[in-house]
Amino acid sequence: MATALVTGGTSGIGAAFARALAARGDDLVLVARDAARLEQVATELRSRYGVTVETLTADLAVRADVDRVAERLTDRDRPVDLLVNNAGFGLRGPLTAEDLSAFEHGFDVMVHAVMVLAAAAARAMTTRGHGAIVNVGSTAGYVTMGGYSALKAFVGVYTESLANELRGTGVTATLLAPGWVRTEFHERADIGTGSIPGFLWLQADDLVAACLRDVAAGKVISIPSKRYKALIFAARHAPRPLVRRASAALSSSRH
Ligand SMILES: NC(=O)c1ccc[n+]([C@@H]2O[C@H](COP(=O)([O-])OP(=O)(O)OC[C@H]3O[C@@H](n4cnc5c(N)ncnc54)[C@H](OP(=O)(O)O)[C@@H]3O)[C@@H](O)[C@H]2O)c1
Repeated sequence: MATALVTGGTSGIGAAFARALAARGDDLVLVARDAARLEQVATELRSRYGVTVETLTADLAVRADVDRVAERLTDRDRPVDLLVNNAGFGLRGPLTAEDLSAFEHGFDVMVHAVMVLAAAAARAMTTRGHGAIVNVGSTAGYVTMGGYSALKAFVGVYTESLANELRGTGVTATLLAPGWVRTEFHERADIGTGSIPGFLWLQADDLVAACLRDVAAGKVISIPSKRYKALIFAARHAPRPLVRRASAALSSSRH
């Protein structure tokens, strides 16, 4: 019997991970800020799939809360076999703003918490000789679309480095780099989606199923769908001035 801890497991991609993992019989630890919603999601999953679902109310921008989640990951009596570092949100606004608190908040949740939780999980998992870590980055990490891109680029390089460090331990690290997915993400961040063509939207359940197959295969990078594999290939191989120009055009079309 395996146990998975999913941050941001109450909505969007995280909720899709929770459903898929419960459907295959994994017990869950779900982490998010909204306690009532956590309990509601946990109750649904318990009754539908018959698995054990713990809830941990935590704000991953608060360091003491991150430490509490890390303690749960390193609890020897209740081992966690899979960590999904998924919690996150969209960011917009100029990098030159006087008030950078939104980016700092993004840094705390999408960089600091990811690093602390992955390190805690990796220490516990390597002691047992098995386990898997999924860090949710983004296609945005391969282009230059502001603070969000910069944070997600960190998640990408960090995860590949972690995978190197973990080689031979029985523990894997996988970067999930989704493109646009219909979740609460865009509405929460007040990001316009009107200019995004329909064929670029992904379904959370599909990309989670593909990611879990990639994790089982020990893949370090999971890019959902052929179209995003092609787009990321282009972003990685095109001349950088072209990538910057395309990123700037795309950013301005969405404001
Ligand atoms: N949707 C996309 O197009 C897209 C594309 C690429 C990558 N991603 C990435 O996918 C991940 C999940 O996003 P999503 O689209 O599924 O968004 P979502 O539907 O808005 O879900 C976000 C989840 O994260 C939790 N969360 C947010 N801030 C938190 C905090 N400070 N502490 C703890 N939990 C927090 C939320 O719960 P509470 O509000 O209750 O805390 C919620 O469960 C993010 O890392 C995002 O950057 C999304």
